[in-house]
Amino acid sequence: MLLSTLSLFATFATTFAGAVRGRGAAAITPGSLQQVSNWGTNPTKTGFYIYVPKKLATNPGIVVAIHYCTGSAQAYYNGSPYKTLSEQYGFVVIYPSSPHSGTCWDVSSKSSLSHNGGGDSNAIANMVQWTIKEYSADTSKVFVTGSSSGAMMTNVMAAAYPDLFKAGIAYSGVPAGCFVSQSGGVDAWNSSCANGQVKNSPAKWAQVVLDMYPNYNGTRPKMQIYHGSSDSTLLPNNYQETTKQWAGVFGYNYDKPESTKSNSPQNSYTTTVWGPMVSGIYAQGVGHTVPIRGADDMKFFGFAT
Ligand SMILES: *[C@@H]1O[C@H](CO)[C@@H](O)[C@H](O)[C@H]1NC(C)=O
Ligand SMILES: *[C@@H]1O[C@H](CO)[C@@H](O)[C@H](O)[C@H]1NC(C)=O
Repeated sequence: MLLSTLSLFATFATTFAGAVRGRGAAAITPGSLQQVSNWGTNPTKTGFYIYVPKKLATNPGIVVAIHYCTGSAQAYYNGSPYKTLSEQYGFVVIYPSSPHSGTCWDVSSKSSLSHNGGGDSNAIANMVQWTIKEYSADTSKVFVTGSSSGAMMTNVMAAAYPDLFKAGIAYSGVPAGCFVSQSGGVDAWNSSCANGQVKNSPAKWAQVVLDMYPNYNGTRPKMQIYHGSSDSTLLPNNYQETTKQWAGVFGYNYDKPESTKSNSPQNSYTTTVWGPMVSGIYAQGVGHTVPIRGADDMKFFGFAT
């Protein structure tokens, strides 16, 4: 009698604990942008917004879509194609929201530029972990993208959390670690990087990436870098420096790309492929930032063929 009461209680306790654990996802209504709260360790109080499609795939993929300075999760949700694409392909979209005044991302402090360092990048990585768990997501389909400051953070996420992401697409950013603040400033602006004056060899840029997660020896995300030739906010040399960085990480010869194609994927854009893991698209005459190419992103991430 006592035994069966105990076991009944144990069953109840397990069910109840399961319900509490799962309440995060259960509380989220598919088909609209929702804020997630109490989701886990959030070292920088970064906002966590999510879009779960009405037609959620079984073991869905995840796309982290990171906004620009002065932007927000809501603004990027409205201004980017990912919610529509999420309905088409069934993946979950995470829209982090910057906690800093002016809403740039911290891509300058040591904590954000280190794996599990406790910065904004760590907060975003924890959102991804939460989403993987709550939605039984397919860890081979976890991707990151963003524009401007969000593109800087895309490069940082790919560098500091290569274990989480399979691919990244950066729209008009700078290399990972280029915005570093020598004095350790959080969310600092780095003029020499923005102005395209920081120039390194592929090997040196690659080392900046490797140093963010020392001793990591697993796979790294495939990268695609967009930049406009008329960008006056993050000067165009950041295109060369960022593509050098990822070519360096994968050991590709930067000076001998595999292919260069003019007027691809559209008139006056040039696509350069350094190897299977690194490509770049230089948009002649385009300023800050290059418009998102959602259908192409879906191909790059492997959702579309
Ligand atoms: C800006 O970043 C570069 C590296 O990209 C670094 O050498 C420089 O010291 C940084 N500027 C400041 C003010 O920290
Ligand atoms: C890669 O890292 C793992 C975990 O740190 C380690 O056990 C393994 O020996 C490393 N492999 C190589 C080839 O360095």
